[in-house]
Amino acid sequence: MTDGTTPTGRFDGRTALVTGAASGIGRATAERLADEGATVVVTDVDEQNGEAVVDEIETAGGDAVFRELDVTDADAFDAVVQAVDERHGLDVVVNNAGIAHPHATVEETDAETFERVLDVNVRGVWNGCQSALRVFKDRGEGAIVNVASLGGMIGLPRQGVYTLTKGAVLNFTRTVAAEAGPAGVRANAVCPGFVETEMGESFFEDADDPEEARERMERQYPLRRLGRPEEVAAAIAYLASDDASWVTGHGLVVDGGYSVA
Ligand code: NAI
Repeated sequence: MTDGTTPTGRFDGRTALVTGAASGIGRATAERLADEGATVVVTDVDEQNGEAVVDEIETAGGDAVFRELDVTDADAFDAVVQAVDERHGLDVVVNNAGIAHPHATVEETDAETFERVLDVNVRGVWNGCQSALRVFKDRGEGAIVNVASLGGMIGLPRQGVYTLTKGAVLNFTRTVAAEAGPAGVRANAVCPGFVETEMGESFFEDADDPEEARERMERQYPLRRLGRPEEVAAAIAYLASDDASWVTGHGLVVDGGYSVA
């Protein structure tokens, strides 16, 4: 995806692991980091699309490998991180994997939805941070970027469980930063507004008129459009890079101005 405007080389000689990298923001992040010189470990539960991302990166001249990883499995996460670290030396972990849920009020939401969304969005990020810290703190360096959401900062009616998880991710990132900073490890989060991905599209599915719902949402953004995965990937790459060497515990809002309008 080199377009002549992308800075290259910030991740030369480094290795980055991205979860949920078979689609959307994770995919764009894997491509961006590879484009800037990283060896990228593309992880996801979706092997087929994950391998396709690896193919695309390799075709563009980058270096990537796929590892199947369900972020809810702590032992599996540890095993992948340890193996990657032993082989390449791991420098960056992007905890991106996350799921949404069908629109429902708090009182309508069933226990199964609650548990599933917490499992992926909260336990998954917990596992990723824990595995990364076991490697990074010993070495005295490393960068973690967690993908939170605008929904972790403001209320979103009928997305109660999602907002619960993203608020947790945002504040947990601050704790990780505070705890790991003295060891030379940074942890930050991004808080994207609405981004056009598979998950993003699912928000419109149960609207009576999905096209009208989309246009209404676009009008709520000062920049009058929804976000693109590449725009979030650029923010993640910044936070993961040495350009952000004195930035930690930060939640970078990438939302076309939604939260300030
Ligand atoms: P997406 O649905 O396009 O991609 C999510 C990826 O995560 C998929 O490849 C899926 O297979 C993978 N995944 C799901 N469960 C997994 C698990 N247990 N273990 C490993 N991988 C798993 O979604 P999108 O939009 O790219 O979202 C990525 C992150 O960005 C999520 O954390 C999401 O909450 C967050 N986000 C998305 C926004 C949007 O509008 N699309 C806005 C704000 C935050």
